[in-house]
Amino acid sequence: MCTPTRREFLLGSASAAFSASTIKPSTAAASTNIALIPEVGAARLLGADKPQTEIWGYGGRVPGPLLRVQQGETLNASLINAIGQPTTVHWHGIRIANSMDGVPGLTQAPVQPGGKFDYSFVCPDAGTYWYHPHKTASEQIARGLHGILIVDELEPPKVDQDLTLVFDDWRLKRDNQIHSESFGSIGERAHGGRYGNVFTLNGSSDYVIDAVAGERLRLRMCNVSNANIFAITIPDHRLTIIAIDGQPVEPVLARSNRIVLATGQRADIIIDLEGAPGNKSPIEVSAFREQFTVGAISYHASERKREQPLEAPIRLKPNPLNTQLDTVSPKNVTLMMEGGAMGRLDGAHIGDKWLSMNELVRQKGFVWALDGHAGMPDKPLFSVKQGQTVVVKMINKTGWPHAMHLHGHHFRALKSSLDAQPQPWWRDTQLIFSHEEVSLAFVADNPGKWMLHCHMLEHHEGGMSTWFEVQA
Ligand code: C2O
Ligand code: CU
Repeated sequence: MCTPTRREFLLGSASAAFSASTIKPSTAAASTNIALIPEVGAARLLGADKPQTEIWGYGGRVPGPLLRVQQGETLNASLINAIGQPTTVHWHGIRIANSMDGVPGLTQAPVQPGGKFDYSFVCPDAGTYWYHPHKTASEQIARGLHGILIVDELEPPKVDQDLTLVFDDWRLKRDNQIHSESFGSIGERAHGGRYGNVFTLNGSSDYVIDAVAGERLRLRMCNVSNANIFAITIPDHRLTIIAIDGQPVEPVLARSNRIVLATGQRADIIIDLEGAPGNKSPIEVSAFREQFTVGAISYHASERKREQPLEAPIRLKPNPLNTQLDTVSPKNVTLMMEGGAMGRLDGAHIGDKWLSMNELVRQKGFVWALDGHAGMPDKPLFSVKQGQTVVVKMINKTGWPHAMHLHGHHFRALKSSLDAQPQPWWRDTQLIFSHEEVSLAFVADNPGKWMLHCHMLEHHEGGMSTWFEVQA
């Protein structure tokens, strides 16, 4: 990989790190009837006064329109494909009707250029979700196709501002355009995936949140990068986590005041602005020991919202998830994760055929295997009756971390069995480190065909995907 680092990249561009640009995220009216049009657009990723980059975005913008419905409401969205590739929309984290899940070849046919698909589904859980293509995702998401979907609580907690913070990285060339030559790189598939050299918050590396001292903010953070793991900090402010991957948690102060998000993951944060009027606090992202400032919270020069900070923490009502795990007779599944650089994978199955690693790479561009299979198998990893508790024991034998995403359900992560101390939250994407074992336990109560795959998109397309079936 010989792409410029962000520092090289900014060299000579007299970067005034905090120019006074304030770009608000695009907000759709509180309508539940939306046209989602993936199309070519332009974005000033480096800041308002910097050159433009050609992107693909829903409505030509990045992030795409903020979609918002109330819990229990139906969202109607028409995808109208205006890019030159087939695409779909996946509604990440929504416990959705299977036919609306947006997985090409499993739940729907891909939507061809010029084609249309009407999505219509109920949003059962309040929280922060996102939407993105599930076809050639490593290119389409990297080019900017993604947006946030907020499902509002029936009685939303009182905050002064409710903001979405979309964290991303981009691989740009010296001419500020997307490094498209590296899409599909086998080397990146076999390593960590596609990493960027420019980091952005809401589509700008210079994003400013205007605020007033004493305000309480709800920050809905989402990592939409292809493969990165971000640690997010706002120095001198305490970050209280109230929801993870959309699901409410008992409010907890972030450890070391950092929010760690793997690709696909979200966190809802409460932050009380305890600094003085005129204060300016950077928003920082670390990835692989490098730190980038992507924006700031800028306090109004003289105003103050309230003298005393708000005391009571915000506690969200749990969503109507089925959390009654059957600990006596769950369906136990083992998922061996193998391959990648330094992974010593000899080969794997595609359908009934076993192929050597060389052949996998040559014929399909596959470098990873789940349960001895590379790519989407014809047969499901397992099949269960609706309502059955499933425990998927993931064994990461690779030299890399992975962000495993389960469709249509939320799970609780356990260490190795149901007796082990579970993580006290319900998520849809789990980071699993090299040579770690994590079990995902969930009630398979949503009928249909669902994917389980690595959300590091190069890994996903490099073979790390499987599916299971829930029979009604
Ligand atoms: Cu966010 Cu199957 O993906
Ligand atoms: Cu992975």
